[in-house]
Amino acid sequence: MQSRNISKRGLKAGSSSPRIDLEIYFEALGNLYHKKENPEGILLLNMAENKLAWNLCKEKINAYSQTPIPEWVAGYTDIKGDISTREAIADYMENYFSKCEINPDTIAIASGATGAIEVTTFLLANPNDVVVIPSPSYSVYDQDIKHYSGLEKYCLQTHTSFSSSASDYKISIDQLEKAKKDIEKSGKDFKILIITSPDNPTGIGYESEELKTIASWCIAHEVHFVVNEIYGMTVLPNTHFQKTSFAQIMSEHQSDFLHLWSAVSKDFGISGFRFGWIHSHNEALMNGISQTNLGHSVSNHTQFIISQLLTDTPFLDRYFVDFQQQMEKSYLLVTKTLDRIGVPYLENIGSMFIWADFSSFLNEGSYASEMELWKDIYNKCQILVTPGGGMGHQYFGAFRIVYPNLVYNDLVIAMKKLEHYFLKER
Ligand SMILES: Cc1ncc(COP(=O)(O)O)c(C=O)c1O
Repeated sequence: MQSRNISKRGLKAGSSSPRIDLEIYFEALGNLYHKKENPEGILLLNMAENKLAWNLCKEKINAYSQTPIPEWVAGYTDIKGDISTREAIADYMENYFSKCEINPDTIAIASGATGAIEVTTFLLANPNDVVVIPSPSYSVYDQDIKHYSGLEKYCLQTHTSFSSSASDYKISIDQLEKAKKDIEKSGKDFKILIITSPDNPTGIGYESEELKTIASWCIAHEVHFVVNEIYGMTVLPNTHFQKTSFAQIMSEHQSDFLHLWSAVSKDFGISGFRFGWIHSHNEALMNGISQTNLGHSVSNHTQFIISQLLTDTPFLDRYFVDFQQQMEKSYLLVTKTLDRIGVPYLENIGSMFIWADFSSFLNEGSYASEMELWKDIYNKCQILVTPGGGMGHQYFGAFRIVYPNLVYNDLVIAMKKLEHYFLKER
């Protein structure tokens, strides 16, 4: 019999971990690498925390925190976020992020991208509706759509083995049609499609024409299409990629079925500030957020600090150039190491990840073997990466390397250890 000290959903939520590497990550936090104090400590390459960004923003954010607090900060404000903060986001989107006109009324603030995902899916779909996400994908989507909204995930497999070509990771209309048929056959409704661009874990990005094609299909079939642009400014310079924010396509269509999520967590390395937003022209959605989002809202003090950051154009002009150059330097360090080891990887346009194929080092093509190699890298190199298992893909041996999780000098040490392990120890 079900115990009465917790509900069924509480029991379910408490018994599932959002990701495979969480327990080992918390263990590693107590034994982190330090050049002098702990040279044998753990080098983290698994958590999407951008140390390069934080190091560049730290001083400025400390300075904004010293600004005297205006009156509105102390009280309640609009549940979608104070209008001054939503205006700051609109300015930021217009100037840097999406380069098109943005009405602050189409923006609602939430506690990180997670808060945005939870409230949007809660309001757009009914329990047991299906959310389609191409695999491999950010593993925590699973929890974000299930715990509050009771939705199901459909992992769309665009390909089955590892591929070094970005086009193999992108969804086609045929695949969307097939997903729709599969879902309807099981008596369910394909309600939402989510893509992440630039993507976690693959680092691919969708270009304008690709987004337009998918958007038209979704509008025609009344499927909500959300593009998660949490890595919107974390793009590498010197790639052929033509970045287009989905906001531009939304502006052309003005449809109730198109939405965008973003946050400051990654582009500024401040995930702890818990600040994200939803951009949508769907008035019913915005009204729903106004009534339900207090529990997912962001402290006014944080809103005030972030508003200063997002409107500090002299700083932002410099910051994005420096940030993207530093990202590229670290990216090249890792990819050159992988080249020497002989590990294939997917060419990147942005995000914080390198999706690399270590399957030739597995004893066999199985989940157990993937976990064995992952733990061996942790134990012998003191390096923690994320195994691909749990990201919804049917392939074994792909790992995600979060290269800006370390500052450059520490990344150099990590890459030396990785190279030594694969070329000398095995
Ligand atoms: C694709 C994606 N969405 C959402 C999140 C969660 O972001 P936040 O910390 O802003 O809630 C992450 C974090 O890694 C992510 O990669």
